[in-house]
Amino acid sequence: MTLRHFLTGTELSCDELGALLHHAAELKAAPLSSRALEGRSVALIFERPSTRTRLSFEAGVFELGGHPLVLRQGEMQLSRGESAGDTARVLSRHVAAIGMRTGPDAVLEELALASEVPVFNMLTAGHHPCQALADLMTLREAFGRLEGLKLAYVGDGNNVARSLALLGALAGVEVAVASPDGYTLTGAPDAQLTTDPGEAVRGAHAVYADVWVSMGDEGTADARRAALAPYRLDDTLLDRAGPGAIALHCLPAHPGEEISAEVLYGPRQRIWDQAENRRHAQKALLALLVSG
Ligand code: CP
Ligand code: NVA
Repeated sequence: MTLRHFLTGTELSCDELGALLHHAAELKAAPLSSRALEGRSVALIFERPSTRTRLSFEAGVFELGGHPLVLRQGEMQLSRGESAGDTARVLSRHVAAIGMRTGPDAVLEELALASEVPVFNMLTAGHHPCQALADLMTLREAFGRLEGLKLAYVGDGNNVARSLALLGALAGVEVAVASPDGYTLTGAPDAQLTTDPGEAVRGAHAVYADVWVSMGDEGTADARRAALAPYRLDDTLLDRAGPGAIALHCLPAHPGEEISAEVLYGPRQRIWDQAENRRHAQKALLALLVSG
């Protein structure tokens, strides 16, 4: 049995990603059709706040017949200096898989290196691949396919942008990213980078926004808001995308900042479906990871 991790998402092959998204759609139609975690527990470690990730994993593990163990940093010896590696060595004796939300990618990597069970990324400063799975699932629902679609991400070249670009490339989605100088996406060789939001959204099937101030970036909040102000996702920008284009956002949103309230609550968004799809996509991921 091969030990599988899901740290950046690029651990999956194209075919595995396609099969996972197909299974996610099946699970959405029949939420209790898999008992992949029957009698097993999954550890969910949160070193940073979460609404959607925690909810969707906790409910999803339960729907797969398993028991979710939500572990917060302050309640673990991690907060008193026990290493991520030793934490993984102990957790591996109890659970079928370990999810972690933390800051540095190196902490997650240390956890994975010592783990004897699959480790998955519930958000780091560098990546948010579980979000990208739900985003691809939402695109597939909206357009019936992924190959050949264009997605434009407008804003900070952050963890969400990077995962979209990496997993989008794997799925055959063209990803264009518009960011101001100083906030350019790195580490995603296939993404089309520009400083011009209009250029990024031209011909796009979906336009995507994320917060301007990510967790851990609070110290530079004012500078970020100033630099990113021209990158708001509003009706004017969405009108410049392809006909029938949809709006996406990973949430939490700040209406009036990175996205207008008209778009966030309007007829062209699929944002609330996206939030639901976290559970279905992650259930398919867990089923794949624990199957070895
Ligand atoms: N999109 C997302 O990951 O939301 P949470 O931070 O609420 O988990
Ligand atoms: N880029 C955001 C995503 C939140 C789900 C952050 O890292 O805070």
